Amino acid sequence: MKIIRHYFPAVMFTLLLGIINLSAQTNNSWRASEAVIEKLSKDRTSINYHEEKVPAYVLPDPLMSANGKKVSNAGQWTEERRQEVLELFRENVFGRVPSTAYTKSFKIVSKDDKAIGGLATLKLVDITISTAEKSLVIHLTLFTPNTGKPSPAFLLIDNRGPVNTDPTRQKKSQFWPVEEAIARGYAMAVFYNADLDPDKFDNFENGIHAVLDNGTRKNDSWGTLAAWAWGASRCMDYLETDTDIDSKRVAVLGHSRGGKTALWAGAEDKRFSLVISNESGCSGAALARRRFGETLSVINTAFPHWFCLNYRKYNDNEDNLPVDMHMLLGLIAPRSLYVACADEDLWGDPAGSYISLQNSLPVFRLFYPDSTLPPVIPPLNTPVSGGRTGFHIRDGGHNLLLKDWNWFMDFADRHL
Ligand code: GCU
Repeated sequence: MKIIRHYFPAVMFTLLLGIINLSAQTNNSWRASEAVIEKLSKDRTSINYHEEKVPAYVLPDPLMSANGKKVSNAGQWTEERRQEVLELFRENVFGRVPSTAYTKSFKIVSKDDKAIGGLATLKLVDITISTAEKSLVIHLTLFTPNTGKPSPAFLLIDNRGPVNTDPTRQKKSQFWPVEEAIARGYAMAVFYNADLDPDKFDNFENGIHAVLDNGTRKNDSWGTLAAWAWGASRCMDYLETDTDIDSKRVAVLGHSRGGKTALWAGAEDKRFSLVISNESGCSGAALARRRFGETLSVINTAFPHWFCLNYRKYNDNEDNLPVDMHMLLGLIAPRSLYVACADEDLWGDPAGSYISLQNSLPVFRLFYPDSTLPPVIPPLNTPVSGGRTGFHIRDGGHNLLLKDWNWFMDFADRHL
């Protein structure tokens, strides 16, 4: 159990009972720009963007089992505690996937082995999920490098629409830089989250909910983010069958709401060997208890379909949430994890994301004793890594850019 307090001026954090001391901020450690704080505070006066107003809080210990025993080795984590933590997130945050039986089929609807100037093969794959009454199709777009051997892959959960992921490559977007990834030997896969569930509150009448849900919704029934994460796993089902893919080396990633989803997909599905959260913020990498930027009550009000109903119990009541997001990050261990933030995206709390990552390290250390990160928030545009974890804060605003991808690929070169 650790109490974390915040002192001002400067972004300084002291763990009173903790293992990490962020109080020794160096001159070039990242800190939020005063101008950005001022502007955002004016735009939304009810939101806190000031470090000195972050309340003291106590984080649940990821290694403390429900029976009061502390996990001391990797086996105990994998066999017992990991399942407990996963259940806590299902019960209180993302909700549970229904157990309805379904069948799935894969169909390559189009194939071009001369894509990207002959460097890659493009496949458009329909993944059909069916029950006796209904069905749904996930459209997977996949570029694989023409290297003649199975390639590692990035699977992007696209929350910004197909305009960013044009298979013809007439429209190029930094959000999905296929050409650059292919040049570095990576396959690029993407699906559009709305194939699984529309991003609006529709009382769960559409998307995969309409196919798999049965009976009345319960307080722990899955929300839209869990549906998108489930879709990432169905794409993985296909990738496992594609001989152009090295399915032991598949990264799942997403931006913002897609980043929250990528974390949950990686928590639920251990086949993803690298999980990348880009600016996932509240209910993603950032600690809920800090109440900095977007909070639980704000997110549950604006996006009532994203989480399970139980999550609302913690609106303005974060200290009673039985988990915090460092425990979601810990669920990725012993696989690799990268958390990325942006300088001006204080809504997504870069500092809270770094502290969260720091506090997930005790789980990673059960597997890799070298899992340490700098005790202070790293400077802008300076990726850091420790063990199987990585982190950066990019200059600029809320977005997924080539600069982020290049750092992800550098990390993947070492860890995927
Ligand atoms: C909103 C929302 C965030 C989310 C973001 C996005 O800002 O409040 O939680 O991450 O949209 O997905 O772009």
